[in-house]
Amino acid sequence: MSSFASCLSWVIVLLTATVTSVSVTSSEWGEAGVKYGKIGASITLVCVDKNDSAVAMWRFNGAEDIPWGFITQLGHLQLTNTELSAVGNYSCHDQSGGLLGFVLLRVGYPPGMPSVSCRASDYENFSCYWKSNVETLLPTRYIASYRSRNHITGICLQDPARPNMCSVSNSEFWSSYQMNITEENPLGSSFRLLEVTVHSIVKPDPPEKVVVEPVPSAPRRLRVSWDYPPTWPHKPQFQLKFRLQYRPVRHPSWSVVETVNLSDVITDAFAGMEHVVQVSAKDFLDAGNWSEWSVEGRGTPWTSLTTRASDSDETTTIEPEPPVEEPFDRSDPLEKVAILISLGIFAFVVLALFLVIGALIWLRVRRKIKHSG
Ligand SMILES: *[C@@H]1O[C@H](CO)[C@@H](O)[C@H](O)[C@H]1NC(C)=O
Ligand SMILES: *[C@@H]1O[C@H](CO)[C@@H](O)[C@H](O)[C@H]1NC(C)=O
Repeated sequence: MSSFASCLSWVIVLLTATVTSVSVTSSEWGEAGVKYGKIGASITLVCVDKNDSAVAMWRFNGAEDIPWGFITQLGHLQLTNTELSAVGNYSCHDQSGGLLGFVLLRVGYPPGMPSVSCRASDYENFSCYWKSNVETLLPTRYIASYRSRNHITGICLQDPARPNMCSVSNSEFWSSYQMNITEENPLGSSFRLLEVTVHSIVKPDPPEKVVVEPVPSAPRRLRVSWDYPPTWPHKPQFQLKFRLQYRPVRHPSWSVVETVNLSDVITDAFAGMEHVVQVSAKDFLDAGNWSEWSVEGRGTPWTSLTTRASDSDETTTIEPEPPVEEPFDRSDPLEKVAILISLGIFAFVVLALFLVIGALIWLRVRRKIKHSG
């Protein structure tokens, strides 16, 4: 069932991709009979190709008076210094007033260079977002493509449901891409190039499920736990690290701590006060940016009052005092793998350096021996 569903979604993705690329490569604009012109320019309206000699008059929205235009010898209507008020229906007629043809005129400006920014919320895909910088008044479309460092070009896929953005899937984390976002309208096109290095634009989504709990018998401690953002796929070589900010609800300033675990114990909470806690995430090796702060979690440290209250409610047996938890529990096996991999890479680089230096010294010594010998 689920494999059928995922199969179906792939088909839909493929169909969407095909439709998008077809509409993007077609060069037709709007409906037949529409002419697009540039504000301030002169525009020639043509009646019907074969019968132009028959043209006796032009009308604008039915009216015969068109002060901003004149009829040329060929029967075309020439508009000069076109303004926005020239937008409308133009019709051409013969001697007896019979309709020969009509054209709808729309005017505006050619596209400007769009503003573009890109962001990766995980290490496998990234998206670019753009904004038009010119109010062109005309229908507009965007062509989004990329060229990777090894000169592979591709389409940055646009989703009709999410305008002004495109996504590159299965991108390489350590690679760079040259993005080309082209704004196009009937009067021309203008493109913006943007160099994107995936690992420098990565910005995870905020962690989720932030839970703040009292630590029994510890009036100044709060235990905070959270989850990875669901959009960040778990892989040993792509871990996240976290930072917490916390303060009593009624205090303005935050304290911040960093951790690599999925939980932490605040040891300097204010006794008896409710605290607000937020968590944000960043790539474990410090690539890219910190995520936005998560939604708030709230909690109050344990107080002797709370236990007395619950003691009077029900007859509870006295629990043995739990061991105070270590705030840093560095036993995540995935993290160890990541550290091992980094150490391995470091060792390899050092070894390579030694080999190169050794080779250089050996070459020099040999040359010296040759010269002196
Ligand atoms: C990246 O995009 C591909 C294809 O759209 C998708 O299968 C994959 O789950 C995405 N990866 C993440 C981490 O969202
Ligand atoms: C950017 O894309 C547009 C549209 O495909 C194309 O005409 C233009 O030549 C491209 N520019 C570069 C520098 O690749």
